[in-house]
Formats: sequence, C-alpha cells, structure tokens
Amino acid sequence: MSGKMNVLLIGGGGREHALAQKLVQSRRLGDLWITNPENAGLAALGKAVDVPVGIREIYRLEQFCDKHKIGMVVIGPEEPLCEGYADKLSGPARMVFGPSAEAARLEGDKAWSKQLMRSASIPTADARIFTDYRAAKDYLASRESPPALEGRSQGLAARSKDLHAESPPVIKAAGLAKGKGVVVPRNFKDAYAALERMMVKKEFGDAGSRVVIEERLEGTEVSVLAIVDGGNILVLPACRDHKRLLDKDEGPNTGGMGAFCPADNLDDETLRHVEREILVPTIDALRRDGIAYRGVLYAGLMLTPAGPKALEFNCRFGDPECQPLMARLKSDLIDLLEGACKGTLDRVEVEWDSRAACTVVLAARGYPDAPKKGAVIEGLEAGAKVADAQIAIGGATRDRDGRVVVSGGRVLSVTGLGETLAAARRTAYECCSKISFEGAQMRTDIGAGAG
Ligand code: AMP
Ligand code: GLY
Repeated sequence: MSGKMNVLLIGGGGREHALAQKLVQSRRLGDLWITNPENAGLAALGKAVDVPVGIREIYRLEQFCDKHKIGMVVIGPEEPLCEGYADKLSGPARMVFGPSAEAARLEGDKAWSKQLMRSASIPTADARIFTDYRAAKDYLASRESPPALEGRSQGLAARSKDLHAESPPVIKAAGLAKGKGVVVPRNFKDAYAALERMMVKKEFGDAGSRVVIEERLEGTEVSVLAIVDGGNILVLPACRDHKRLLDKDEGPNTGGMGAFCPADNLDDETLRHVEREILVPTIDALRRDGIAYRGVLYAGLMLTPAGPKALEFNCRFGDPECQPLMARLKSDLIDLLEGACKGTLDRVEVEWDSRAACTVVLAARGYPDAPKKGAVIEGLEAGAKVADAQIAIGGATRDRDGRVVVSGGRVLSVTGLGETLAAARRTAYECCSKISFEGAQMRTDIGAGAG
C-alpha cells in the first residue's frame, strides 16, 4: 500500500506502550513520536515531542505535527478525545485515529449516552438522570420503599420491597472520573453515600453534577471493542477484564487488573447479535445526529438472562484489554488504523493469532487509592526472555541512575500467548514470577474460572 508515515502517539500508559510495540513492527512506520517519555517503555521506542501538549496550547502540538510531517496521530486515552484533540489535530495532510469530541461524549457524558441508547432502542439498564441532589435522593428513597401497590396483596408489596432492598441501583457520575465514578452499592446506605459524595461533596468535581441512577443488572460481563470508520464496523475478538483489585473479584474497583481474549462467555452468534443490536444502532443514531464515529467503540456489556445489555460505551481501547488484543493482532496496525481514518475499513484484511492471550497487571503498593512511587523494578530482562510473553510498561520510569522505578498505579501489564487460555495464563504468570518490586500487587486468578 502507501509509503512510510510519521506517527504521533498521545498517552502514557500500558495501553499506549502496547500500541507503540505494535506500531514499531509496522513496515510503514517512519518516525514514532510520543507525548509521555516518562514512561520508560515509550521512551525506548519513540522520540519525545518537545512542545507542551496541553489543550490550552494545542496549537503548539499542531505546529509540531506540521513541522515533523506527522501523517497520523493516534490518541490512546479518553481525556484528550473528550477535550477535542482529534478535532484540533486532524488536517488535510494528517489523519487522527480517535473520535471527535462530539462522538467521544458516548464515554464522556453517561447521561447523554444513556439518552442516545434509549432513543435508538439499544438494550441497556433502565435509568434516570438527575441534576438535583434532593430529587435524586427522593428517587432513591422511592426505590428503597416502593409505595404499596394498590389492589395487590400485602405479600406482593412486601416481596417487591425485599427485591429492591437486595439490589440498590447503580450510581454513576455522568462525567469522566478516571474510572472511579461508578458505584455498585452493596446496600442503600452506600447508595445514599455515593450520591452525596458525587452531588454534594463534589468528589469528582463537575463530573458528578449530573448523576445517572440505573437498574442493577445481573450476569457476566464482557467487553466488545470495534474499530469504526464512520460507516463500517470491524468487530474485534471479545475480551474480558477483571476490574476488582483482589482475587475472587473482591476489593475495590480499579482501572483493570487483568484481561484475556478471546472471551469465554460469548459465542459467535451472540457477538453478531451485539453487533446488530448494539454497535450498529449506536453508530446509526450518531449519524442521524450528524456525527461520524471514527476510532474504537468499546461496549461494556452485561450478559443478562434477557440478552446482552450495554453498561457503558468507551471511545478508546481498554487498558488492559488493548494488551491481549495487540498481542493477537497479526496484521499491520498502521494499515488498520488508516482504514478507520479514511473510511476504507471494508478493504483492510485483518488477521488474528489463533492463540489466546492473557494479561496480568502488576500494580503498585497502595493502588488504586494512593499508589506509592519509587520502588525499583527487578527482573524485567529475565521476564522479557520468557517465550510468548510481552511486557507493557504502564507506570514505570527511569531514574537518574538508569534504574526502572515505579511511577504510577498500574506499573506493568504482562501478556502471555498460548494455545489455550490456560496455557496463555501460565506463560503470563511465569513472566510475572521473574519480575519483582516492593509492594507489588497482582491477582492470581486472571483468566482462571473467568469470574
Ligand atoms: P462502567 O464504568 O459503567 O462500565 O461501570 C464499571 C463497572 O460497574 C462495570 O464493569 C460493572 O461491573 C459495574 N456496573 C455498571 N453498571 C452496572 C449495572 N447497571 N448493573 C450492574 N453492574 C454495573
Ligand atoms: N479496562 C477497562 C477500561 O479500560 O475502561
């Protein structure tokens, strides 16, 4: 196809390091530029941009792109997408992989996203949206003690109250809250507390000024990611992630402690159903509003007894879901991303490794609340020698002495490939066993019994 291209990669976590590892394999890559050289993995693969990268000085990054003939910008995280980096950086001679700010509202504004799902009859949890704390609290109270139903027996009313008491609704800050804005409360007391933290104490700032209170769904979760080019949709193999910090899905929610691909709870027929009933209607609904979606559309789904329902949309690759996906992608990443940018995705041949991939995250002491920085990481070289394993750096940097030290919450993500999921996880854990740093936290059950 076309010639070499200079690429600018925006973002600084494990997802971006996995993307960078794949980009440098591309026969089409010219120079790789990065915005986050403090990430030791990215620093080893790309050249650091030498201008400020904030949205206020976005013209500096535009000028940089012009000067260095950047042909493609790849935006990893949701914040720059929601802030409009894709809109600002695209130009006649430059493609951007990632949706416009308008399209990124699917992730950045859960209230808007819920309304869109509703208007397009996309299966999702029932929900109400509130801007007023008192109204939200009253609604919660009505859910806790639903009024006795007229004409029904007392017994039924009591049972219905019990049912509500068992499952308080889920409370979500409408805006971006670094993955912390969703509370699945154990009881109504926790639900009221979450509401107060969001709407009164403003723990998430503006992100919590609107709140979505939604029906709690039961089932198993799965992440279906697709690449979209404005019209065509390429559904990627489904993944599962593990959001809780501790084994057996205990402990607080995190950005993700591990993931694997393909998912074990979704057959091809259900995947096609998800494409038809959830992904396509979403893209169509956006198009009706004059919004062309380009980039990754990530649907977080609950497989309920009544079929798959959308829990949320993200406008980017998942972290860590991107790691097992990149490990399995055999095709040239630049060809794929270019197809999405140019609207020619239907012409891109995509090949996947038939093996399974399993990714285990090594997190810092204190993650997710207060990750402790500075611990020296040992064993990265030994880990890199494990066959069929790959290490992505998320929160680690080089200190003055050249040692790689912890600098963020999710420090490393280690991916193993194997003929079966069990083999993939053995490889990932073997690689993890070579690596150590003080206070490292790791789940031991990623991909095991997949829960
Ligand atoms: P989200 O960021 O919206 O995906 O929410 C984070 C996590 O909260 C999800 O992965 C689910 O585990 C859980 N969650 C969100 N919405 C619901 C819901 N309606 N019912 C049950 N669990 C939910
Ligand atoms: N791993 C979940 C996410 O990236 O949102």
